[in-house]
Amino acid sequence: MKFFIDTANLAQIKEAHDLGILDGVTTNPSLMAKEGIRGEEAINQHYLTICELVDGGDVSVEVISTDLAGIIEEGKKLAAIHPNIVVKVPMIKDGVKALKWFSDNGIRTNCTLVFSAGQAILAAKAGANYVSPFIGRIDDSNWDGVQLIEQISHIYNLQGFKTEILAASIRSALHIVKCAEAGADVCTCPLESILGLLKHPLTDIGLAKFLDDAKKMKEVMVGAK
Ligand code: G3P
Repeated sequence: MKFFIDTANLAQIKEAHDLGILDGVTTNPSLMAKEGIRGEEAINQHYLTICELVDGGDVSVEVISTDLAGIIEEGKKLAAIHPNIVVKVPMIKDGVKALKWFSDNGIRTNCTLVFSAGQAILAAKAGANYVSPFIGRIDDSNWDGVQLIEQISHIYNLQGFKTEILAASIRSALHIVKCAEAGADVCTCPLESILGLLKHPLTDIGLAKFLDDAKKMKEVMVGAK
C-alpha cells in the first residue's frame, strides 16, 4: 500500500518525506485555503513546490470548475505544472465525462468525493487512475467507511478494473491499518495519523529498559578497567 500525505502544508510534507515512507501528496481547496494561499499564480507555485519536495511522487490537485469545458480547461493547466500532477475531479456528471476525456488524452486523474460503490464503478469505467472514497466522513454519518473500501476492492478485483483505491479522509492510525486490511492501494493521511503508527506503549517501556540495562553494562565495563 502506498502512503500519501493529505495536506498542503510544506513542513508536514517535508517531515513525512524525511521519514522515507512517502509516496505522494493529496490536496484539496480546503487544505490549500488553510495554508493561506491566495491567487492563481501563488496556487500554481505552491503545487510546483510540493511536486519538487516529494520528487517522483504523485501530487493530486483539485479542479474547482463543475462544468465539462471548465474542468477540462483547468485540468490541462494543472497537468502542465509538473509531470507528477494528478488532476482531482469531483464525482459529478460532468466530472465523469471529464475523467473519460482526461483518460483519452493522457492526463492522470483522481476521482474525489466518492461515498458509494456505484460511484466507484463509474469512476473506474470512466478511466480514473485513482478513486478517493472519504472513509472518515462516511464514519461521521454513521456508516462504515472501511466496509466501503472492502466492497470497492472486491468489485475492482472481480471486474479487473485498474483504478487504484485511494482511501481518503483518514482520521487515525487504526484507519490506516484497517484500510490496508481492506485492500486499499493507497492511504492518504494527515501527518498525525502516520506518526500514530509508530506508537506502542510496550515499545517505549521496552526501549527504556534496554537503555537502562545498557547503561548498567557500560558502568560495569568502566568499573572493570
Ligand atoms: O483530501 C480529501 C479528504 O482526505 C478530506 O478529508 O478530513 O476533510 O474529511 P476530511
